Amino acid sequence: MEKDQDVTRREFLKTAAAIAAASTLPIVGSPAILSAQNSSNAVRYGIIGTGTEGCTLLKFLATIPEGRCIATCDIYPPNLKKGVETIGSNPETYEDYRKMLERKDMDAVLIATPLNLHAQMVLDALSAGKHVFVEKTMYFKEEEGDLIRKAAAEHPKLALQVGLQRRSSLLYQLAMEMIKQGALGRIMFVRAQWHRNSDWRRPVPDPKFERLLNWRMYKEYSGGMLAELASHQTDVANWAIGAEPISVVATGGIDYWKDGRTTCDNVEAIYEYPGGQKLCWSGILYNNHFEFDEQIMGDRGTLIITVGKGMYFREAVAKVSSPGSAKENWWAGATVSNQSAQQGIPIFPEAGAIGDLSFVDRETRFAKHWLATKGLYTYQEPHDPWWSEMYNFMMSVRDGKPVIAPLEIGVADAQAVIYGNRAVETGQKVYWPNAQPQKDIKKGSKT
Ligand SMILES: NC(=O)c1ccc[n+]([C@@H]2O[C@H](COP(=O)([O-])OP(=O)(O)OC[C@H]3O[C@@H](n4cnc5c(N)ncnc54)[C@H](O)[C@@H]3O)[C@@H](O)[C@H]2O)c1
Repeated sequence: MEKDQDVTRREFLKTAAAIAAASTLPIVGSPAILSAQNSSNAVRYGIIGTGTEGCTLLKFLATIPEGRCIATCDIYPPNLKKGVETIGSNPETYEDYRKMLERKDMDAVLIATPLNLHAQMVLDALSAGKHVFVEKTMYFKEEEGDLIRKAAAEHPKLALQVGLQRRSSLLYQLAMEMIKQGALGRIMFVRAQWHRNSDWRRPVPDPKFERLLNWRMYKEYSGGMLAELASHQTDVANWAIGAEPISVVATGGIDYWKDGRTTCDNVEAIYEYPGGQKLCWSGILYNNHFEFDEQIMGDRGTLIITVGKGMYFREAVAKVSSPGSAKENWWAGATVSNQSAQQGIPIFPEAGAIGDLSFVDRETRFAKHWLATKGLYTYQEPHDPWWSEMYNFMMSVRDGKPVIAPLEIGVADAQAVIYGNRAVETGQKVYWPNAQPQKDIKKGSKT
């Protein structure tokens, strides 16, 4: 293989130094090694909705002794049973979540129900004095955002976390620190897609359960693809750009799965940010080739990231206009050819911080990194981000640690979904109410 097309030791060391610079910063929510906790010190929680996501959370929660599930609630008996079996802690079961919230011995509640139910459940849980974890998207209707803000302000001591688990991923945290350190330069564009080749439909044992089990395909309960898929990625774009969008144009339709659903099977949306940055999002349900990832592009580099995998690509030095300019190479003094810039370098936390390592450890790390560039080594986070998300929530409740995906992150995320859907439905550009006027923007305009 030609030298230019390979990742050289010199390039590895530069990458490692860059990642190390990011890694030395405190990484919020990084999972600590569990200490043995006695059960009286554990957070006592209940969960509302033990369907697919509720059971995923319970699967990870079952390995977290800092919390103890004392109650589960679901209105669909098979799922209620599945939840009890998954957690295995013999919780009391409920069909009516309000009854569950009456329990005085419960510290926290997790909500993993259809989207249209989130806001009321959050409000009821806060007013019952419970810490709250609510799945994304945090709420369904625009006006619910302020209601939740008001309730949260009335209960400042209660944790409120939204279920955007990428916020708990060490890999994403590292990527964001690299961005902060300037590895990508000025970010102007994010492209993200979530492509599948499936109808998204769940089999129903009896037609009377169609709406309950396939709620995400009907507009009365669901924000469709933007709520279920894009919400993770608009959050990543907001995080990377460091701002919320100011406007969105979007289109979509029910063009392939004409089976009675009322939410789209394809959506294309362009979000614009205050500095002119754009997020271009694509969701389709009839081709899986590109699957899902986020491609974050700055004038010095690109990051392609998804859960469990991140690749960094440098912009070629050839584009530097003059020393000291905005485009000065982030890798001071490096001469990088176009080819090697395009080669890409895997990022993972353990690729950084080589400074204090012994010769052997440094060589091992180099080998691991080299193997990663060949696809022969795959980085695995020490814990699944879902696990870390649950652990972080328990730590916020038990020890008052900062909430990793708090209220305003959830609000920004929900707004992107709601305004995106409005743009699809109206065919008009939709502006955020507080957007700074630009060009022809009419403040607060819904269309
Ligand atoms: N963070 C993620 O990656 C992720 C992944 C999947 C789903 N989700 C989110 O989790 C939520 C649930 O999605 P899902 O796929 O698990 O749906 P689901 O249909 O599998 O589960 C929802 C459960 O809520 C129950 N339910 C409905 N109404 C109820 C009520 N009034 N009281 C109690 N229980 C009730 C249903 O019976 C069902 O068991 C959604 O907001 C979804 O967006 C998040």
